[in-house]
Amino acid sequence: MAAIRSATIDDIDAILELEQGFGVDAWNKDQFESELTNPYAYYRVAYDGSTILGYCGALLLGDQADIQTLLVKPQYRRHGIAMALLDDIIHYLKDAHIHEVFLEVSATNHAAIKLYTKLKFKNIGIRRNYYKTGDDAVIMKKELQP
Ligand SMILES: CC(C)(COP(=O)(O)OP(=O)(O)OC[C@H]1O[C@@H](n2cnc3c(N)ncnc32)[C@H](O)[C@@H]1OP(=O)(O)O)[C@@H](O)C(=O)NCCC(=O)NCCS
Repeated sequence: MAAIRSATIDDIDAILELEQGFGVDAWNKDQFESELTNPYAYYRVAYDGSTILGYCGALLLGDQADIQTLLVKPQYRRHGIAMALLDDIIHYLKDAHIHEVFLEVSATNHAAIKLYTKLKFKNIGIRRNYYKTGDDAVIMKKELQP
């Protein structure tokens, strides 16, 4: 059973190991260090004991936020962990008076697009060739009601 807590610098190695799942678009250690020490970032991990099962982070910018990363360990997918991480973050963003949440997702990532659509994110545009793979990014936005 997964629980959720704040991510810390000590989680970086476990996060990086999972992050390899993003292939050429995977973030590196410097990027995660900079995110986890950014005072405007809110990063959470799902865990079971000492095992990190997934992570998700957002950057807060005024009354807007961007979901920066989201990943669940392959063998733990389809158990509601991504939904629980996003619910947790959205709850925090509402309390922080954020009105709009944005994210980019590969147009070929049907699992993630389905997840975000379930959470009422709307497709608001396309960025062509956004990823190193050459895939387009779909830009999605969710409005948060106070
Ligand atoms: C996308 C991802 C985060 C989903 O994580 P997860 O913990 O498996 O998702 P959940 O179990 O919370 O799924 C919630 C809902 O999202 C949708 N969904 C999730 N994975 C799906 C899949 N593979 N196919 C279709 N729908 C899917 C479903 O509607 C699902 O509800 P259901 O299981 O009741 O049908 C996971 O597949 C992952 O880590 N992928 C690689 C990294 C990634 O793509 N991150 C997003 C970058 S923008």
